[in-house]
Amino acid sequence: MRKKIVAGNWKMNTTVAEGVELAKAIVAKVNEVPAGVTLIVAPPFTHLTSVAEVLKDSAVMLSAQNCADQPKGAYTGEVAASMLKGIGCAYTILGHSERREYYGENSEKLEKKMALALESGLRVIYCVGEKLNEREEGKHFDVVSEQISSVLFGLTRAEIKRIVVAYEPVWAIGTGVTATAEQAQEMHAFIRQTISAHFGEETGEAMSILYGGSCKPSNAQELFACPDIDGGLIGGASLKADDFIAIAKS
Ligand code: 13P
Repeated sequence: MRKKIVAGNWKMNTTVAEGVELAKAIVAKVNEVPAGVTLIVAPPFTHLTSVAEVLKDSAVMLSAQNCADQPKGAYTGEVAASMLKGIGCAYTILGHSERREYYGENSEKLEKKMALALESGLRVIYCVGEKLNEREEGKHFDVVSEQISSVLFGLTRAEIKRIVVAYEPVWAIGTGVTATAEQAQEMHAFIRQTISAHFGEETGEAMSILYGGSCKPSNAQELFACPDIDGGLIGGASLKADDFIAIAKS
């Protein structure tokens, strides 16, 4: 059985105090979520230590949103994967489309980040997804295939087991436009096939693949009912504990 995961990417939202309250509200309701669903929250760097304290005795896991492409040293403003592991992060997100688009993160950079995150003992939620024009031009499978092969195919069998892939079509992020269950399922099945073709069927079948992009309580159930969708990476709706929990219950 694949792990079901609902992860909240808070992006650059909330003050530390608000983030602590949000984490407390999620922890207070975590027992409403069916056993077998793993909840993860990914607050901004500044919040991680305080939120780690709130999550300490709960089943909710902590993730960062990014990590540096260098292990340590003179890299002003960066945060190393080992530092994140050291304060209690179990995961980091890598390759979010906002990082690719606004901060120039390409495959080369992401490969370095991936290696360091895994070496530090973190698990990685690796984001892929096409832009609107790429889908309109019928290139969406090629784009996602390239994002996967360039950054994941160099990993060992042991390493790939610590990766969760999140399919986030860029045109669905923060837009209110969700991919249809059919579009999402089609791409998730393609991602699983791509992983299976390289790493073997067992690895592909075992990988959790999350959907992200305007996922909310009203559409989560339909999306999560698809055979290759194992949960969600939630942006806006993860900032409200009730919505986040409602999605996890779907
Ligand atoms: P929204 O749920 O706000 O569309 O964001 C999705 C996302 O980018 C999660 O990483």
